Amino acid sequence: MDAVRIRDDIYWVGAIDWSMRNFHGYETGRGSSYNAYLILDEHVTLIDTVKEPFAGELIERISSLIDPEKIDYIVSNHVEPDHSGSLLKILALCPNATVITSLPNGLKGLTARYGEQAYKGIKAGDTLSIGHRTLSFVPTPMLHWPDSMVTYCPEEKVLFSNDAFGQHLASGQRFDDENDIDLILFEAKKYYANILMLYGRQAQAALKALAGLDIELILTGHGISWRSHIKDILSLYQKWSTNELEDRAVVVFDSMWHATETMARTIVEAFNAKGIPAAFYDIKANHNSDIVTDVLTSKYLAVGSPTLNNDMMPSIASFLCYLRGLSPKGRKAFAFGSYGWGGQSIAQVEEQLKAAGCDIVLEKQRIANVPTKAQLAALTEAVQQIDE
Ligand code: FEO
Repeated sequence: MDAVRIRDDIYWVGAIDWSMRNFHGYETGRGSSYNAYLILDEHVTLIDTVKEPFAGELIERISSLIDPEKIDYIVSNHVEPDHSGSLLKILALCPNATVITSLPNGLKGLTARYGEQAYKGIKAGDTLSIGHRTLSFVPTPMLHWPDSMVTYCPEEKVLFSNDAFGQHLASGQRFDDENDIDLILFEAKKYYANILMLYGRQAQAALKALAGLDIELILTGHGISWRSHIKDILSLYQKWSTNELEDRAVVVFDSMWHATETMARTIVEAFNAKGIPAAFYDIKANHNSDIVTDVLTSKYLAVGSPTLNNDMMPSIASFLCYLRGLSPKGRKAFAFGSYGWGGQSIAQVEEQLKAAGCDIVLEKQRIANVPTKAQLAALTEAVQQIDE
């Protein structure tokens, strides 16, 4: 396995994880990559490593260029093991290398995971000369861990962005203009929704910190890197991090004997009749991570569950737990569902929507047993009355 030339003396030496299908509950149907980069300057510098099982691939790609012993610096932009997991295996081959990490959290995190090593902690604005090039470090705390940072090389106008702007997408090509751009943008949206949605304020701070940089290449930590669509991805991060929403509705539900499903179909029809495109998500046929991708840019959210043993369906509880963690503020939301007798689930769904930061804009829609035509007409009318 060879290194991939990015430009003179800068190479991709990462690993492609074609088979990865789940990242902490985020379904990654198209795999991923762990991107590491090698800069061949007077001081040879490795930017990030890869997930530990892929250490051999990293070492082979580095060895296609130089003896790994020649590495002087390893920049660890992020402690999470998908980027730092091969650190000890690399350090075993270059025992004189210094590991650059953020203060205080990078140093704390690496020490906790890998013990005492030759770490050098850096702060915002610190620079490191590696010969003809300089590296400067921009902390991006909580994007998405406290230690996260990005590294900028002004002579090359290259940003090593780690998790930011990445996607879980396995590809043999490294750049945006070598792949299907619509697919990359979809996977970038899915990545932001599932990993960064909670951190809009911190993403805004990071975008401000990066605004003054002249960037020709964004070399990401996952998936495809950016060279032809840098403005597009920056503008999408601006949109997502400021919670800019579209007139679109997400309707998600589970159903036991199709009554709640009938309500969901009626709600979708009512939104569509109102001129608001609505998506129909049967939780049995859709993954939480795909649904929250749609929630990221949708103004309306309706969640339905029948009552099972005095509670909402476990599938809907799982969705709402995932949603609450991502805290999508300000969606116009309501709960609905059919029930046999107690009907506790609908109020429970409403409480969870509130806990996720949604604004409840319609009274709980509860229908006992099987919905009648008149009840469905009343449901349609209620949805059509929601303020836009
Ligand atoms: Fe790709 Fe937060 O690790």
